[in-house]
Amino acid sequence: MKITYFGHSAFQIEFGGKTLIFDPFISPNPAAASINVDEIKADYVMLSHGHGDHVADAERIAKQNNATIISNYEIATYYGGKGFKAHGMNHGGKFKFDFGWVKYVYATHSSVLPDGTYGGNPGGFVIWNDDACFYFAGDTALTMDLKLIPLTCPKLDFAILPVGDNFTIGYEDAAIAAEFIACDTIIGCHFDTFPPVKIDHNAAKKAFEAKGKRLLLPAIGERIEGLS
Ligand code: NI
Ligand code: MN
Repeated sequence: MKITYFGHSAFQIEFGGKTLIFDPFISPNPAAASINVDEIKADYVMLSHGHGDHVADAERIAKQNNATIISNYEIATYYGGKGFKAHGMNHGGKFKFDFGWVKYVYATHSSVLPDGTYGGNPGGFVIWNDDACFYFAGDTALTMDLKLIPLTCPKLDFAILPVGDNFTIGYEDAAIAAEFIACDTIIGCHFDTFPPVKIDHNAAKKAFEAKGKRLLLPAIGERIEGLS
C-alpha cells in the first residue's frame, strides 16, 4: 500500500489495485502549492463530510478521472445530482467495492456543503481487504463509539486521525482515540493548515509515545510505505 499526503486531511492511498483520494483540500491550501491537482489520479474520491476543507477539489479530481465519489447519502446524492458517479452510505453500513470493504462509521462533528446544502451526518471510513485494514477518521471528537471499531472490523494496521485541535480532537485526545481503536500506528492530519490548528510536533509525538504508540506527522508530498 502506498500513501501520499497532500496536506490537511487529503491523502492518496493505493489500495486493492485502485487509487483512493480522501478529503481533497489542496488547491486552496497555500502549504500544498507543490501538489499539482491536475495530475492527481483517482478511481474513488472518499469524502468524510461536506466542509470545504475536505471537499474543495472533489469535483475537479472526480471529473478528470471519471472517479466515483463515496460519502454519506446526502453528499453522494448532491454530487450525483451534478452528474458525478456517486455511492451513498450511512453510519454502520458496509459495502464491498472492487478494492475491498468500506464501512462508514460515526464521527462527532458537523457537516454542510460549501454552497449551504445540508451535508448529512459526518463520518469516517474503515477500509479493508485480505491484505490490510485502516481507518480514516475525518473530523471527529473523542467519542466512545470509537470503541466499536475493533469490535466490528478487522484489526487496524494504521489509522489516520485529526490531531490539530480546535475543530477536531487535539493530539492528547487522539492518543486516547488510538487506544479506543486498538491501533499502534497513527498518521496525523488536520494540523498546521490554519493558525488555530498549529501544533507542537514533538509534544504530539511524545503524547503517543507515552501510550506505547507511534504518531507520524508527514510532510506535504511525503509518501509513506510499509505500514501493512
Ligand atoms: Ni469539518
Ligand atoms: Mn475540517
